[in-house]
This record gives sequence, C-alpha cells and structure tokens, in this order.
Amino acid sequence: KSTAAESRLLQYLYQFLPRTSAPSLPGPPSRFLIGNMMELTHDHLPIHLTNLAQRYGNIYRLKCGHTTMVVLNSTDVIREALVKKWSDFAGRPGSYTGDIVSGGGHTISLGDYNEEWRAHRRLVHSALQRCCQQSLHDVIERQALHLRKVLMDYQGRAVDLSEDFTVAASNVITTLTFGKEYDKSSLELQQLHSCLNEIVALWGSTWISALDSFPLLRKLPNPVFSRLLKESQDKINADAITGSLLQGLDKQHSTENGVLLTDIHVHMATVDLLIGGTETTAAWLNWTVAFLLHRPEVQTKVHEELCTVLEGRYPKYSDRHRLPVLCSLIHEVLRLRPVAPLAVPHRAIRDSSIAGYFIPKNTVIIPNLFGAHHDPTIWTDPYSFKPERFLEGGGGSTRALIPFGGGARLCLGESVAKMELFLFTAYLLRDFQFVPPESEASLPDLKGVASVVLKVKSFTVIARPRAATKP
Ligand code: HEM
Repeated sequence: KSTAAESRLLQYLYQFLPRTSAPSLPGPPSRFLIGNMMELTHDHLPIHLTNLAQRYGNIYRLKCGHTTMVVLNSTDVIREALVKKWSDFAGRPGSYTGDIVSGGGHTISLGDYNEEWRAHRRLVHSALQRCCQQSLHDVIERQALHLRKVLMDYQGRAVDLSEDFTVAASNVITTLTFGKEYDKSSLELQQLHSCLNEIVALWGSTWISALDSFPLLRKLPNPVFSRLLKESQDKINADAITGSLLQGLDKQHSTENGVLLTDIHVHMATVDLLIGGTETTAAWLNWTVAFLLHRPEVQTKVHEELCTVLEGRYPKYSDRHRLPVLCSLIHEVLRLRPVAPLAVPHRAIRDSSIAGYFIPKNTVIIPNLFGAHHDPTIWTDPYSFKPERFLEGGGGSTRALIPFGGGARLCLGESVAKMELFLFTAYLLRDFQFVPPESEASLPDLKGVASVVLKVKSFTVIARPRAATKP
C-alpha cells in the first residue's frame, strides 16, 4: 500500500513524464541555452523556414530561450490555427520592444487579444469599410493618375521606382487618415517615412525577441504623427478615417463593455494603417515590375486584355471580373512574394492543438505564408512565375492563397490593398511598357530581402509610354 507521501511523490514525478496522448512536435535539435536561436538569424528567414519544412513537415517547433515557437507551413494548418481555432490563437507575443512600438499595447497589429483590442479593431474596421464604399476608389484613382504623370516626366530614363511607389501608397493612406497628400520632395513626407522606417525596423526586431533593449524610447511619442493628427482633428473632414474614428469615439467613449477608447487609440490606429499600408503595397508593385521584366510576354498579354476589354478608358475596380489575365498576374505575385511572408507572430491564449499536436498556452505561432505558397503538394513548379496557372485550366486555385492571413487577425487593410493592387497595376500597364535599361547586364534579382516586409533588391527600369495613352 502506498503511503500519502509516496502518492504525493508519484504525482510530483508524473508531471515530468512526456504526454503520451499527443505526439511531440518535430523540429531541429535544440542547443543548450540558445535553443534554435541560430535558425532565426538566417538572412532570408522565410526561405530557411520553408526549407526546414521539407525536413520536419508542415508543422514543427523551434526553441528560443524559454519560448517555444511553432512554425506552420501549409495553407491547411495555417487555416486550422488562424481561422478554425481563431479564438485559441488570436493573441500576440508580448515583448518590451513591441510594447514601445505599440504605445503600451494600443496598436491593433501588436496589441494582445482582449476586450479593448476587439473594440479598437472593430472601430477602425467599420471606419475603413465606410471609406471603401464612399471615397477609396477616387482616392486611389487620383494617386494612380499622379503616378502616371511622375512616370511620364521621367521621359524614358532608367530609374528606381520604389520611392514613387511608396509615395503613392502612403498618399492613399494619408488622404484617408489626415485628408492630405504629399509630394515626394516634401519635408513632412520625408519625416513621416523616416519615422515609419524606424518603427518598422524596431518592430522587425520583435521577431526574435532578442533586441529588447533598443533605446528608441526618445523617438516616441513621435511629433510628426501628433502634429498631423492634431491638424486633421482641427479641420472637419467627414471622409477621412480619423474623422470617422473620432465620430465613433464620441459614441464609444465609455460604452462597449466598459471599454474606454481615447485619443491614443486613434493615434496608434493611424500608425497601424500607415505602417501596414505603405511598404506592403509599394513592395508588391516593385515585385510586379521585377517579375514582368523577366517575362515580358505577360506584360503584353495584360496590355492587350486592357485594350480589348476597356476600349481605351481607364478601369474601375468593378471591371476586375472581366480582366482575368490581369487578376492572374496579381494572384501570382501575391503567391510568389507574399509581402508579409511570415505574417505577424500569433500567441496561443489557451491550451489547444494544431494538426493533432498539443499546443500549450503562450506558444508563439509563426504562419509561414511564404512556405504555404511554395508547397509542392499544392502548386506545380512552385518557384516559377506563372500567372497562367490561375487562368482556366491552369490548375492553380486562389483558395490555396493566404497572403493576408485569416481569422481574427486577418489583415485589416485587405479590401484597401486589393483595390490598390488592381487599380495601380491596371493604370500602369495600360499606359507603360516596362523594359530593362540597356546598360544593365542582368535582370532584377528575384530572391528579395526579407524582414517584416519582403522586398525586391533595388533595380532600375524604363517606363516607356505606350503609343496612344490618353489621360
Ligand atoms: C496585418 C498582409 C496591406 C493594415 C497583416 C498581416 C498580413 C498582412 C499577412 C498579418 C495577419 C496575421 O497576423 O495573421 C498584407 C498584404 C498587403 C497588406 C499582403 C498588401 C499587399 C495592408 C494595408 C493596410 C494594412 C493597405 C492598411 C490600410 C494591416 C493591419 C494589420 C495587418 C492594421 C494588423 C491586423 C491585426 O493584428 O489585427 N497584413 N497587408 N495592410 N495589415 Fe496588412
């Protein structure tokens, strides 16, 4: 007969036994103290994590200090976690730098899942939906026409277009939020971008939670945002998101399950939209031009389709169903280069499971969207640029695409982004032929540089005006 002391000892030892009901997650051997930290320092993390999936499967674990990270590498497992079990995995891992970037957890993108976050996201989401229905189309059209003028002014010179794309994308967001647009040379825009770049660089560091001691506190609260926010509050602009947000704030002040949303929430929401909506869209446009230089015949097909279907006029977003070749190009660039290749890390907010593996509370989940888009069991010849795979009979399905994540943390700007990608690309390819400069020995390098945003290495291109381009 066992005594009470013996049974307590057995209970104590039991907790150290491996759980036999669920298999343990595969993963590379973990080194003493540093775990798998070295795996996370690779220069192109999405490619490295995708290569590891070939060895360890679509779901594997990495250890980083006390933190366990689980990397998901197929659309099915990513959907299981983010969509089907969204309420288990809607958290964000906390970190010191993340807290600084997010103004103490007030951003939507880095804020943890709780009542306050839900009220905040709902407020910004409905403000954005209103803009999409009312003014977004006009705002993007205006920026697309401005971009057209900028490219015309280059008069066939070889240039790096990345800054022009950034300005166009950021002007869409600043028009929506501050009711204001900027010229490339404006000092205010330069200050805004340098501030954004610093935040993104700092944000990127939260990735490995190792650079938590950055002394960038002095940069916040950042004066540029504060001033712009004040200006936009001073003038009444019913269409601007900030206006809508503030209207919502009046109503929401102390309602919403007792949640109090204040100026800091509005301030951080504009930061969210600017960070989320500038570099992503700009990087995507750059990738499109880079890929088209490699396969010029795709450009010709899109141009022909635009001419035939639109008979000379500029496209509307509602034309997208009649422009399958253009849409196949957009899908293929989103597949090959999902510009947020590892999304943003999630955190399990309770014990759960993915693909039959036990996932304890606080595990960090990394949705490897890049890996899912290169899954050889889903995509034929996954590393090749073949927009035609999305055309009828091509075998590719948009259902397997997941560039905007999913579930509770689905990209907040998805509808804005989709309209931008469509209209900007259609306007550009209607009026210009992109050709490599004769002096360049080689075409753009398509591997890219991966941080929070996956970007193409800078390259120059000639935007040659098409014969009959009427504004
Ligand atoms: C989050 C992709 C454009 C605002 C995300 C996430 C992805 C993504 C993968 C992370 C989802 C997750 O955590 O699971 C993209 C792509 C874009 C794009 C591929 C364009 C090609 C935009 C735009 C905006 C925006 C234009 C703003 C207007 C945001 C925000 C979040 C987010 C605020 C955080 C959402 C949250 O944590 O709840 N995006 N995005 N994004 N995106 Fe986008």
